[in-house]
Amino acid sequence: MALLHSVLSPVLSWTCLCSLMYIFSTGLVAAVAVLTVRRVWYSHRLSCFSKPPANSWLLGHLGQIQGREEGFQLLDDLVQTYKHSCYWVLGPFYHLVRLFHPDYIKPLFMAPASMTVKNGLIYNHLQPWLGRSVLISNGEVWSRKRRLLTPAFHFDILKSYVTIFNSSSKIMHDKWCRLVAEGKTNLEMFDHVSLMTLDSLLKCAFSYDSNCQESPSEYVSAIVQLCDLVGQRQHNMLHHWDWIYWKTQQGKLFKQTLNVVHRFSRDVVQKRRAILKAQCGVAPTSQRRKDFVDILLLTRDEDGQGLTDEEIQAEANTFMFAGETLQGRRFGV
Ligand SMILES: *[C@@H]1O[C@H](CO)[C@@H](O)[C@H](O)[C@H]1NC(C)=O
Repeated sequence: MALLHSVLSPVLSWTCLCSLMYIFSTGLVAAVAVLTVRRVWYSHRLSCFSKPPANSWLLGHLGQIQGREEGFQLLDDLVQTYKHSCYWVLGPFYHLVRLFHPDYIKPLFMAPASMTVKNGLIYNHLQPWLGRSVLISNGEVWSRKRRLLTPAFHFDILKSYVTIFNSSSKIMHDKWCRLVAEGKTNLEMFDHVSLMTLDSLLKCAFSYDSNCQESPSEYVSAIVQLCDLVGQRQHNMLHHWDWIYWKTQQGKLFKQTLNVVHRFSRDVVQKRRAILKAQCGVAPTSQRRKDFVDILLLTRDEDGQGLTDEEIQAEANTFMFAGETLQGRRFGV
């Protein structure tokens, strides 16, 4: 006990406590000062944009990002009020300009990719899932991938997908007829439409019939879950730091779910490459329609270089992610 006391007493001595408090408060004052200067500087630079009322000085508009219906309602109100654009402050660190009017968005879309560098706030959290895909990459990496992907979105290729869309929507429609016949008088359509989209995408991208509209599919549930988790992560400032996030319950769930998704796309790509190799690089014509993965496996740049398995998996994962989020509900953007 005496030993413990003699060890602790200098630590707890007044001078020591005072200097600790001094260091702590100086640090706090410096951090607040830096944040304030930064905030003032950004406000000045962005003063040409209107700023909607915020919840608090520190958190700004952070709580106002919402998915699903409330998000759309809020977005609608913003567009009604601010017409072309406004700017948001997200927590102490981020400033976000939101553009609504096509005239304001057009110059951004027309600008060279080297100028419109993608921001980490939205894309960083997708990196573990989507890898270095065309959605996330910038500069030279982006432009090579963009060129190699172009054939996959040729109009003639897209046209052949109409039959798939048709059959997937027929499954959904039949399901609705069945539910109505069973006496259902109203129906929340969103999840049905979402499943139908993923069903179509799996058929178009991987020629994979998941039957996810009729019975639960592990892969499809995993995609929906990952989208939810990325959305949740964006709303929680502390989870923006990797070293915190991977220790949280959500971070661990994210990793587990990610394994399911990655295993699936890796299997598809590797099996397909083996089949193509067996056919000496000739795309299947008669047995099966050329799907997204086939096209990516066969595409070559000017030097005859194709995409690696990892690169193709990244694009395939992105394709599925886009199918789930382009419906807009997940991120409320
Ligand atoms: C879609 O499927 C229905 C039958 O379910 C068929 O009558 C129709 O012609 C199809 N449309 C297209 C564009 O394939």
